[in-house]
Amino acid sequence: MKAFISTVLVSFIIPSALFVHAIPTPRGSGDRVVDRSTMTHLYEKRTADIADIDKLVIKFADVLEQLEGGFYKLALDKFNASDFEAAGFSDGDVPLQQIQIIQKDEDIHAKVLESALEAAGASPLTCQFNFDAALYDVGTMLATARVAEVIGSSAYSGSANLIQDPKVLSLAAAILAIEGSHSTVTNILSGSGTAVPSPFVVPLNASEVLALVGGFFSGPCDTGIVPNPALTITNAADLRTGAAVSLNSTAFDSSSQGNLFCQILTGNLTETIPYPLNECTIPYGVSGPTYFWVTDSSDPLPNDVIDRSTNTHVVAGPAITIIDCDPQALGIIAVEGEVPYTSTYDSYVAEASPTNYVGPYGCWFHGKSCQGTH
Ligand SMILES: *[C@@H]1O[C@H](CO)[C@@H](O)[C@H](O)[C@H]1NC(C)=O
Ligand SMILES: *[C@@H]1O[C@H](CO)[C@@H](O)[C@H](O)[C@H]1NC(C)=O
Ligand SMILES: *[C@@H]1O[C@H](CO)[C@@H](O)[C@H](O)[C@H]1NC(C)=O
Ligand SMILES: *[C@@H]1O[C@H](CO)[C@@H](O)[C@H](O)[C@H]1NC(C)=O
Repeated sequence: MKAFISTVLVSFIIPSALFVHAIPTPRGSGDRVVDRSTMTHLYEKRTADIADIDKLVIKFADVLEQLEGGFYKLALDKFNASDFEAAGFSDGDVPLQQIQIIQKDEDIHAKVLESALEAAGASPLTCQFNFDAALYDVGTMLATARVAEVIGSSAYSGSANLIQDPKVLSLAAAILAIEGSHSTVTNILSGSGTAVPSPFVVPLNASEVLALVGGFFSGPCDTGIVPNPALTITNAADLRTGAAVSLNSTAFDSSSQGNLFCQILTGNLTETIPYPLNECTIPYGVSGPTYFWVTDSSDPLPNDVIDRSTNTHVVAGPAITIIDCDPQALGIIAVEGEVPYTSTYDSYVAEASPTNYVGPYGCWFHGKSCQGTH
């Protein structure tokens, strides 16, 4: 195992990651033990002289990894295979195995980032989190995991432009790819989600990420970054094509809604779709991970984290939901064990052929099949 970890790390130094694929990766529990002394040694060479901005990016990424790893750890403490089965999985070991692997990945990410920080003479932050609401039941846990992985990918993509040291950038890219893999797995485990819902994630800056995850902090966690004001979707479960979106924040009150705008963004758009706030609606064609901002200008926000970061019209947000419009056989198999042509899913599967799509993005109107999850 030690050899495997070292090989992965060496591949950051000698950029030929390809040969890593040839090495069989043990996936069972307890396999991926992190040898911190080996890592620290290697990272000293790479990260001793990194810029302050790189340290800030690594520190922030580590907080997110601690958040994710801590969340999955508590989820695994709380839910066993029977709980997953009670929540609808035909075999509880299917989701359990995936969550165990994801938890280990997040833990290793945090440890590697912390080693990099320590090698650079900086200290990682120690933050406290509260996941009580997110761990309420298996369904809430999986929906939260799904959103957390999307946010993780958005955070790494949105920080890439800040990183000065190419080796730090290479490490961040290597982690980002795995956050994307986790996203795919959690999309599949949702049963109703599209495994790969968009060709792009939405890059977010650290203030935007904090607006999304700030609610999980249960104590001080001084990242040095000013969060955007948090925004809440108060009717996330009802969101599907054509539905009105209700947004709420301490940054504005209902009397000011008439002068504000809702801005809707998915990875595949070049800029947000604006609406007056009190007419905010899920537009036709919007599905998958979907972000909302509130602005005091009707001008769209760019899907470009660099340009958006200097925009002075953001009042609150983003908030996120995942709009499921295209249930896929893969997710149905993960939950039900097979594609059950006798259940209500058979019509979903039958209609999942491109010829039966309601529109160019296949957004359906089958109640449960097209709705927000968070
Ligand atoms: C799983 O956890 C539940 C409580 O959530 C408990 O009642 C049950 O006995 C556990 N099952 C196993 C096999 O440990
Ligand atoms: C992304 O947008 C392009 C251009 O509008 C469109 O052709 C394509 O189908 C979209 N892809 C997805 C996955 O939504
Ligand atoms: C809207 O936000 C305010 C303040 O944050 C809160 O008191 C209120 O309960 C929220 N309303 C809904 C419907 O969530
Ligand atoms: C991030 O973007 C927001 C706009 O959403 C901007 O107000 C904020 O200043 C930016 N933060 C950073 C750290 O760039």
